[in-house]
Amino acid sequence: MADPRISEAGFDLDQIDHLLSTTRAVRKRLDFDRPVSDEVIFDCIDLAEQAPTGGNDASRRWLVVRDQAIKDQLGDLYRETGQIFTKARQRLIGTGHPKEKVVSSSAYLVENMAKAPVLVIAAIWGIHDNSGRPGLFDTVIPSAWSFNLALRARGLGSAYTTMLNGNVEQLEEILGIPPGVTTIVTFPVAYTKGTEFKPAPRRPASEITYFDQWGFTRSQPSTDGTTRVVDGQGVVAEIDTDARPSEVWPIISDIDMPARFSSEFLGAEWTEGSEPGVGATFVGRNEIPDMFAWEVTCHVTEWVPEQTFEWRVTDPNNPGAIWRFDLAEQGAGSRLRFSMIIGQENNGTVPQALKDPEKEERVLNRRRQTLKANMQATVEGVRDLVDGGAEADG
Ligand SMILES: Cc1cc2nc3c(=O)[nH]c(=O)nc-3n(C[C@H](O)[C@H](O)[C@H](O)COP(=O)(O)O)c2cc1C
Repeated sequence: MADPRISEAGFDLDQIDHLLSTTRAVRKRLDFDRPVSDEVIFDCIDLAEQAPTGGNDASRRWLVVRDQAIKDQLGDLYRETGQIFTKARQRLIGTGHPKEKVVSSSAYLVENMAKAPVLVIAAIWGIHDNSGRPGLFDTVIPSAWSFNLALRARGLGSAYTTMLNGNVEQLEEILGIPPGVTTIVTFPVAYTKGTEFKPAPRRPASEITYFDQWGFTRSQPSTDGTTRVVDGQGVVAEIDTDARPSEVWPIISDIDMPARFSSEFLGAEWTEGSEPGVGATFVGRNEIPDMFAWEVTCHVTEWVPEQTFEWRVTDPNNPGAIWRFDLAEQGAGSRLRFSMIIGQENNGTVPQALKDPEKEERVLNRRRQTLKANMQATVEGVRDLVDGGAEADG
């Protein structure tokens, strides 16, 4: 077995990282038959109370429900609000839809909430003032998550549920909660059936972490924290639309489209004989107005209709840039992500950036400001087209 990774602070990182990456929302694997002691609940709440609290106020309260008659009432209430999940399960069953599993699991909890040996509700003295400032919810959330982690470390599990807040008056009546208290989260707590859980698929930090400016990404961590060509500096522009991915795809897969919105991109044509798809090429025409114009060959490296369109500029193995559209369902519409990464060579920016290490960051960031403006204009243009706010030839 490999030696444990012990951090400078003395923690076993394999253990800690395993806990942090495998504390899942557990529903179907809750063991409703195994009792849960008060002692373990107290231990987990004591640990949860070590979480930060706004103003260092001791205002959090925890309500532990064991009485089956009360759990049944809460179960009924949860079922009322949770019908969206049972209905959605009907719709998604057997479709392979990305949300099929979570909806099926959530619907299972809707039907079985009252069977959990314990329901634990985290609440706080106070009413949220809707000021937008950090407030009550923010004080409960970190401790509620610590509670979950403490459960998992002891072989128990839960799901972080908020749906009972949709019926708050009845919830308060069932539990005798006085005015002036806000309930935040309800945990069905039980031992888990088995203790192996896996990390969930999530976007990597490099895609969702921005440095210094909104949308400025780094493909890999910099060794000294500075902005360098070698780390793959990128730009992301995202937008939500009301349209489904099937309606957005024809627009983003039209290689000429960004010319309508970008100040640098003049248009593109598929290379003769190229059918849109992986391996196809197109030629893009660009200009920096009043300075120079250039043409580049673009190689399609990913093409998944209604999801992903990626192309690499100049040389697919050593691209001047990697450009990409990603589409995903978001609520009833979709989220469009337009991203690019500046390559290590085969472009105009890198020679300039590498001329003087003192200026590397400034050159890269100036270039990214222009790219970001054009990419933002493009995603807004697409959104307006699909949501019907602009003329098709805008
Ligand atoms: C703010 C918040 C509210 C949630 N509300 C519910 C809920 O009402 N019912 C439920 O079954 N799960 C709820 N969840 C759990 C999520 O559905 C769950 O975290 C998500 O499916 C991802 O699963 P994972 O945490 O195992 O990766 C909630 C999670 C959060 C963070």
